[in-house]
Amino acid sequence: MKKHILSILVLAVCLFSCTKANQEETAQMEWRGLMIDVSRHFYPMDVLKRQIDLMGNYGLNVLHLHLTDAAGWRLEIKKYPRLTDLGAWRTHQTWKEWWAQRPRATEDTKGNEWFAPAFSDAQNGFGGYYTQEEMRQLVAYAQERGITIVPEIEFPAHSEEVVAAYPWVGYNHAEMDMSKDSTYMFMADVLAEVADIFPSPYIHVGGDESATQKGLQSEAMRRIQKIVEDLGRRMIVWDEGLTDNPADSAQIIMVWRNPDTATEAIRLGHDVIMCPSNWCYLDSYQDRPTGQPEAMGGYRPLSHIYEVPLDSALSAQETSTGRLLGIQACIFTEYVPTPENLEYQIWPRALAIAERGLGRTRSYEEFHQWAVGVADSMRQAGINAFDLCNEYGQRRESLQPVEHLARGAKVIYNSPYNSFYQAGGDSTLTDGVCGTWNNNDQRWQGFIRDIDLVLDLGQECEVSSVELSFLQILGPEIFLPAEVSVAPMDKADADGTSVSYIQLMDSTLADVPFVVQPYKLDLEPQTKTRYLHITAKRTPRRGWLFLDEVVVR
Ligand code: ACM
Repeated sequence: MKKHILSILVLAVCLFSCTKANQEETAQMEWRGLMIDVSRHFYPMDVLKRQIDLMGNYGLNVLHLHLTDAAGWRLEIKKYPRLTDLGAWRTHQTWKEWWAQRPRATEDTKGNEWFAPAFSDAQNGFGGYYTQEEMRQLVAYAQERGITIVPEIEFPAHSEEVVAAYPWVGYNHAEMDMSKDSTYMFMADVLAEVADIFPSPYIHVGGDESATQKGLQSEAMRRIQKIVEDLGRRMIVWDEGLTDNPADSAQIIMVWRNPDTATEAIRLGHDVIMCPSNWCYLDSYQDRPTGQPEAMGGYRPLSHIYEVPLDSALSAQETSTGRLLGIQACIFTEYVPTPENLEYQIWPRALAIAERGLGRTRSYEEFHQWAVGVADSMRQAGINAFDLCNEYGQRRESLQPVEHLARGAKVIYNSPYNSFYQAGGDSTLTDGVCGTWNNNDQRWQGFIRDIDLVLDLGQECEVSSVELSFLQILGPEIFLPAEVSVAPMDKADADGTSVSYIQLMDSTLADVPFVVQPYKLDLEPQTKTRYLHITAKRTPRRGWLFLDEVVVR
């Protein structure tokens, strides 16, 4: 009997420890990825190898290469040499210069204008590509370090370079034609060569941001899926594959927009990889933007990336056949022209993705302390990692409410804010809450026109100054205003009855990629008024105005 009890005890201990081991195992995700966009800017082999070394050292195990996009096709395809003879070489070195000038406007057979970007050749153009032999070497190099390289070939959109090289594939200048058999023959040929180079169980075929040929994408993706599956691989698509098109549940969904899509996809039986842009895109600023290299806009410091929301997807998989395969950091490289910039944007932020993917349980403080040490050691080893030790952090003004005379005051909008950037609606500009380094933080209010509003202070007050802070982010065309004015008024609808105070934009700021700039207007002498008429005029560049608070003192 004693022996019996002992064996029950041993069994119980074993079961307990096995369950625990399983829990630890499931906590570690299968896919701990880093995506590098080598299309917008081309990076030499040694740069990719260095990232692979670092990934291997710190627990990332999938390198997703975004090999094709408008800005350059980066993989030798023997059957279609013009993809690299022409499509790998563009007329300008940086994506920004090249994209800004969009040189050729021609007319297609349907009478639509095509704004086709310009490509060139290896002698006269900028860019490059990887030969098949080089990619095989890279695959082997990665394999030795426990890393799978997953190739992405964009279809049908983001394909300007394909259409430039082989116009017969094009529906228009940017998208492959989903209605023609010849398009699928082209894709089958390309993917066969891709599969031969990359032994990865997965091939990514894009599927994002297709703007035309509505209604065709679902069937088109199924046709591509068949090609991929006939090659013995599983197909991954960006999340438009689910939200815009009913997708076959065998398609793996890479969630880059709303994280809730992951939960829905898993419930529908899809496997999912999470890289929601608001957390996982490293093309953003990682510190106070002033003094940082230009980025896409958006502020995603290490602490924010660490918070990537996974719980809902994790719990959805408990009651579904769909699984959360893992998470991934992505670096799209429109604003990342050099290898040094690339490393700076990735490290140490990708460590937060590795940490979550590995399912480690230390606190953020412990992780952060460790990451500071890793970033330091990377820098000492010549890697251009961000200096985490000297991080400035969030915009100070946003950390606590600001007290001022107009807090809670009514705002009468003579020109409306834009519904995409309404923030808290009519109370936003007087709620005492200042914006962060993120323009979509629900604190900044966006106007795609000149601003014209009246502030009703509720009763007459002695006003000595009005301060308005505007945001400028050049990428999304958010600009500082040319001129801001304030006029005290007797009535809400008074018409130019009082003196107005005007401040002009400091013209040296016009081309600063990211700045938060106060416009302070001193009322001299101090004025007794209930109403303040406030305007902000755009520069001739037009674009957006973003304002967070009207601070009245
Ligand atoms: C994407 O950022 N368009 C996937």
